[in-house]
Amino acid sequence: MLGEIKIAPSVLSADFARLGEELASIATADYVHYDVMDGHFVPNLTFGLDILRATKAATDLPIDVHLMITNPDEMVEKYLDAGADLVSFHYEATAHAHRLVGLIKERGAKASVALNPATPVSMLEPIIDDLDMVLVMTVNPGFGGQKFIESSLRKLRRLRRMCDEHGVSPLVEVDGGISAANAAEVTGAGANVLVAGSAVFGASDRATAISDIRRAGLSGVSKTA
Ligand code: DX5
Ligand code: ZN
Repeated sequence: MLGEIKIAPSVLSADFARLGEELASIATADYVHYDVMDGHFVPNLTFGLDILRATKAATDLPIDVHLMITNPDEMVEKYLDAGADLVSFHYEATAHAHRLVGLIKERGAKASVALNPATPVSMLEPIIDDLDMVLVMTVNPGFGGQKFIESSLRKLRRLRRMCDEHGVSPLVEVDGGISAANAAEVTGAGANVLVAGSAVFGASDRATAISDIRRAGLSGVSKTA
């Protein structure tokens, strides 16, 4: 719906020893963003299927799984079985993006393709009609707490033009370096799902951090509406 902004805190920045409490602290968000890194596609290793099952059991929020792995074709079904509600795989990691999107949707989950900063949105032109969401990486994937890449704004506007031309309106998620300080800029350029790791889990009051980002994001939408 036009004007709606969704907030997806990334548990990458949570205190893993207190995961249950950390998940309870973000109950006012819209998704739990769950970053899977394999040490190959990105130079970092995080968590996989078992922790996803534990996360799913500990929250009522839908789980937005971001697969930063080299073999999404082999692993996607396992993540669906473990409780993923929305799955983003990287365009750069598979030769079969169309097939993977079909598989995710057949299983009743939402399908999304993630793009690294150096991958142009035009790569999605042949499949944009089929996507529930596009994830535009606004940092190079691998770590929380990095600086937002400014040229992402141009990329978001290009994506919005492409969606308009196709008459489709998938969700547009931004991930990396997002906070209340730049939320209006990214929503003004077309984003409507904002991932925030350090900006949420680095704050002592998570509900306030979430509502600050949401309010800033909404102000960007009304500016351009
Ligand atoms: C980075 C991950 C992000 C990360 C964002 O590769 O995909 O989801 O947790 O963290 P912040 O919001 O701190 O940049
Ligand atoms: Zn992510």
